Amino acid sequence: MPEKRGTGRGKVILLGEHAVVHGVPALVVGLERGAEATATAASQDEIVLGGMTLDGDHELLSALAAARQVLGAPPVRLQLELHIPAGAGLGASAALGVAAARALLGGDETSDEAAVARAADAWETVLHGNPSGVDRAAAQLGGVLCFVKNGAIEPVPLRKALHLVVAVAAPPAKTKEMVAMVADLKESNPTQFDKNLGAIRSLVENANVCLRGGDLVSLGKLMDLCQMVLAGWMLSTEGLEIACKVARGAGALGAKLTGSGGGGAIVALAPDPAIAGRVQTALAARGFPAFACQVDPDQNDDPDGHSHHGGHAHG
Ligand code: MEV
Repeated sequence: MPEKRGTGRGKVILLGEHAVVHGVPALVVGLERGAEATATAASQDEIVLGGMTLDGDHELLSALAAARQVLGAPPVRLQLELHIPAGAGLGASAALGVAAARALLGGDETSDEAAVARAADAWETVLHGNPSGVDRAAAQLGGVLCFVKNGAIEPVPLRKALHLVVAVAAPPAKTKEMVAMVADLKESNPTQFDKNLGAIRSLVENANVCLRGGDLVSLGKLMDLCQMVLAGWMLSTEGLEIACKVARGAGALGAKLTGSGGGGAIVALAPDPAIAGRVQTALAARGFPAFACQVDPDQNDDPDGHSHHGGHAHG
């Protein structure tokens, strides 16, 4: 088997994390940066991540075995490179899963994106338990997507470019634990949980209208409101709250945690590239490593295909 190279995108959820697990749509950006995987034939599976060979009991080897089983693919030596922070809620594991699945299927030229999705979902299930699939969808596609679990994945046409700033606050995000904690909240108080879920649904629906109409000021306010609901679910941390405040203080229109919370990253929306730069600098000065990312109106991909564009990051 000649060497096969696949890629997968990182992601930033604009609104709808956690609620998406319970059937609410999520708005997500597939980033240009993410992960790369190179597969070569081997007598047994081996993974080299960032130049280091993983121990035989590493969970990524179980994820690879699950993905291979879905595809009926033979053992491989998989070289993985990650270009986004891991454990930050930026979809690193799904980016790796999509990159690995594409490498197993012959590289980025593969036309079988449905098989990529199935294999990457199996990979994600090993790592995250019961994922909604939103990270995997964004890892395959660029632009802004409206994702529904077990449902439609629709590109959201943008009226105006989005200037986002992503910043990482300690500790690392713990997706599995946070998803389980939200499920506990649902079980212990279903009525209150449904109210919060309804609130996030209406924030997501309004944000979708704002994206299509180019109303970034209102989009920022909706992000701030979403952060309050997520904080009510105990998903925020002191670091995430400080990072959101710093971003807003530097001119962001809105800021919230992104991904699983409990740590990890925030996403802030800036009105223009200059203010995005200011927000990025302010966050970095407070010890939050940050990068800016622009999503242009023509960056949506065809959900039946892959590749092309995505939120391109700088900084
Ligand atoms: C993680 O990026 C997003 C969550 O909603 C989990 C999921 O959708 O599987 C927290």
